Amino acid sequence: MCKSISNIGVLTSGGDSPGMNAAVRAVVRTALYHNKRAFGIYDGYQGMIEGRIEELKYYDVSNIIQRGGTMLGTARCAEFKTKEGRQKAYDNLKRNGIDALVVIGGDGSFTGAHYFSKEFDLPIIGLPGTIDNDLFGTQFTIGFDSAVNTVVNAIDKIRDTAGSHHRLFFVEVMGRDAGFIALHSGIGVGAEDILIPEDVTDMPKLINKIKKDAHTRKSQIVVVAEGDDFGGAQDVADEVKKQLPEFDIKVTVLGHVQRGGSPTAFDRVLASRLGVQAVKSLLEGKSQIMIGFENRDTVEIEIEKAIKHHTKPNMKLLELVDVLSQ
Ligand code: ADP
Ligand code: F6P
Repeated sequence: MCKSISNIGVLTSGGDSPGMNAAVRAVVRTALYHNKRAFGIYDGYQGMIEGRIEELKYYDVSNIIQRGGTMLGTARCAEFKTKEGRQKAYDNLKRNGIDALVVIGGDGSFTGAHYFSKEFDLPIIGLPGTIDNDLFGTQFTIGFDSAVNTVVNAIDKIRDTAGSHHRLFFVEVMGRDAGFIALHSGIGVGAEDILIPEDVTDMPKLINKIKKDAHTRKSQIVVVAEGDDFGGAQDVADEVKKQLPEFDIKVTVLGHVQRGGSPTAFDRVLASRLGVQAVKSLLEGKSQIMIGFENRDTVEIEIEKAIKHHTKPNMKLLELVDVLSQ
């Protein structure tokens, strides 16, 4: 155990995701379990720069494991990208006696954490918190499973009305640069097609698929990741309407509903395991690593690697769609 760490700060940064609260709870309670003090930093790096930091005790994180969002708040903070901003942030940590940090966020937050840790020789550990599931070094990020379940519930409802009216729906899901949510939810709802940023949208193929057996299918649903190369569900729908004017077409953009809501049991367990391991690793003297989840267990990966590399969904899932929705 590393004796030099006494006070551990925790913050959430970037886009929120269901399960971040469970991770905060795990970090705080694990710190207390090891007789360390825990400090919550509000609104990510913004709160660190402004000194909005508070000690968190055991009961301060009660009753949050089941809640969406993040009790600490989150932010996108341009000032942290400057040396002056980071200096202010460090001064505030020192003022509170914080000598180690757990950052829960995506690759942007980890990039900031990496610079900060190097600049001030401060032990920092990252936990992958994003619904997009696009971080290298972990099979799952905190929030992905919840977001996929939210999408599946929503599209199941859309399927009911689509079937009643014999309609073709284009449903847009989040994923500016990543198709994980679209792929997993699309397969989960039996989508007729799935369009993702990692693949080129083949319009003639899509049109043929929609036309094929159209009269016998009660409804058709195409799941479109917001970052697909056509520019999202509305643009795809407009093009399809041009070519198939006889089709009754609707577009639903699910938007930020995907970021909220109660985390699934999977995300709660994942967040708890990663949070516990983050504090353990800090106390073992580790720094600049992300705690990920691979092969049913937590793993440590250099944060630099997590930032540099990009992870792509398993493209075999797209082939699955061609088989299951011919
Ligand atoms: P995410 O962590 O979800 O990828 P962002 O990309 O918005 O979200 O990053 C979150 C925050 O991390 C940014 O608002 C900024 O404060 C910090 N950050 C991102 N990139 C850098 C960088 N190159 N240097 C310092 N801080 C950064
Ligand atoms: O958290 C990642 C993400 O959900 C992306 O898929 C999406 O494009 C983005 O956040 C939107 O975030 P915001 O509206 O907060 O900028």
